[in-house]
Amino acid sequence: MHLDVRNVSKRFGSKAAVERMSFTLDGSGFVGIIGRSGAGKSTFLRMLNRLTDATEGEILADGKDILKLRGAEKRAWQSQCAMVFQQFNLVPRMDVASNVLHGLLGRRPMMATLFNLWSEDDIARALAILDRLGIAEQAPKRAEALSGGQQQRVAIARALMQDPEIILADEPIASLDPMNAQIVMDTLKRINVEDGRMVIANLHTLDTARRYCDRVIGMRDGRVVFDGTPEQLTRGAARDIYGADASFSESATSTDLGALQPDDQYAAALLGD
Ligand SMILES: Nc1ncnc2c1ncn2[C@@H]1O[C@H](COP(=O)(O)OP(=O)(O)OP(=O)(O)O)[C@@H](O)[C@H]1O
Ligand SMILES: [Mg+2]
Repeated sequence: MHLDVRNVSKRFGSKAAVERMSFTLDGSGFVGIIGRSGAGKSTFLRMLNRLTDATEGEILADGKDILKLRGAEKRAWQSQCAMVFQQFNLVPRMDVASNVLHGLLGRRPMMATLFNLWSEDDIARALAILDRLGIAEQAPKRAEALSGGQQQRVAIARALMQDPEIILADEPIASLDPMNAQIVMDTLKRINVEDGRMVIANLHTLDTARRYCDRVIGMRDGRVVFDGTPEQLTRGAARDIYGADASFSESATSTDLGALQPDDQYAAALLGD
């Protein structure tokens, strides 16, 4: 997939949340968007996923402006770029497997959804994805009974159910402890590397961006102020992005796993690497 973001802006009244953002992405990288609170990171992801309309600009996906899509074409684009959120956005009282199957909602007829009639193939696929992410045993439990890290893996499984080309993750680890943050980031990285799906993740912290991304886009006040590799993300570049918060952003992110216990074997295996 080739993404060409051209002069994309989003204004709320007189306030510009995103101001003439431009960059291109090729292939299937792991892209981090960083910047302090209010920089415009979520607004950009929401425009890319068409959850909100841009005020101006174009986003060409393989040459086609996805900001102009309507109806069925727009929904098809939205299932090509599945979203993962900071607060997981699961249905808490519903079982894990059904939460994952809800990833298909955009793709199936309304009546089937109303009566919760999932095909055997769909169910088998949902269980296979859960198994891949190490949470197959959790399938019958209510989502709310799982740990935060496990819930975020369920949300990733739900995204995978759409078989997306791109996974958009808005602060996927901001609500997790350091251990679960690492497990979730490792999981996104696995999907990126093994499946060749592009990942675009809004990240609060520098060390996570440095560790997982092969491309980092830094935003400040709605504008792109950095676009490069993690190696190019020097302290000076970080100061441009975060301003006086640069040192804070470095130190707020130590990944001391301490005495935390992994939730399951998958988690333990990832941490054991
Ligand atoms: N619906 C809205 N109405 C008005 N202003 C908004 C709206 N959504 C976002 N903004 C403003 O746009 C700017 C960018 O917000 P955005 O949520 O994209 O930032 P962010 O980089 O994701 O921040 P955070 O790290 O806190 O999530 C902020 O100043 C915010 O107050
Ligand atoms: Mg945000």
